[in-house]
Amino acid sequence: MRTSKRSSLIHLIYFSRAQLSAEPGVRARQINEIARHAQKKNEFSVITSLLIVDQGYFIQILEGERMSVQETFQRISADNRHRDVHIVEWREITKREFVTSFASAPRTPSNDALFQKANLGPMLQRGTPKASTIYSLAQALQADTMAKQGIDHLFV
Ligand SMILES: Cc1cc2nc3c(=O)[nH]c(=O)nc-3n(C[C@H](O)[C@H](O)[C@H](O)COP(=O)(O)O)c2cc1C
Repeated sequence: MRTSKRSSLIHLIYFSRAQLSAEPGVRARQINEIARHAQKKNEFSVITSLLIVDQGYFIQILEGERMSVQETFQRISADNRHRDVHIVEWREITKREFVTSFASAPRTPSNDALFQKANLGPMLQRGTPKASTIYSLAQALQADTMAKQGIDHLFV
C-alpha cells in the first residue's frame, strides 16, 4: 500500500514568544519577511505548514518527512525573532492536513471568532496549549482563508 511508503511523514507543533516590533505596520512586514523565506525553503523541502500569530505568540504546525521537519525545526528554534520555543506535539501522521508550504494566519477582526472559540490564550499563558485545540484552530483558519479565496469546495 502507498501509505506504508509514507510512514516517515510527521507533524510537529510548537509555540514560542514572538520577538517582533510593537508597531503593527513593522510587525506585518517582519511576518512577511519570515513568510517569503520560509515559503521557498519549505517548497524545496516539501514541507507544508501554517503559522498562527496571536497575542505575542507564534504557533506553527510543520508537516513533512521526518528528516526535513527536524532540520527545519532546528533552524526555526535558533531564530532570534522568537524565544522560549516549546514543542507541543511531534508524531507520525498518515496524511497532510495543510495545503501550502507556508501560510501565516495572524488574528484579525475577520477571523477573531475562530480564535475566541479556541480560547488558546489561557493555555498559552500557562505554557500548556493542547495539540488538539491548536490543530482544530489551524484547520478552521485554513478553511476560512480558502473560503475567502473561493476554493472552499475542496474541503467539503
Ligand atoms: C516563527 C517563525 C517561523 C518560521 N518558519 C519557517 C519555516 O516554516 N521554514 C523555514 O525554512 N524557515 C522558517 N523560519 C525561518 C528560519 O527560522 C530561519 O530564519 C531560516 O530558515 C534560515 O534560513 P537560511 O539558513 O537560508 O538563512 C521561521 C522563523 C520564525 C521566526
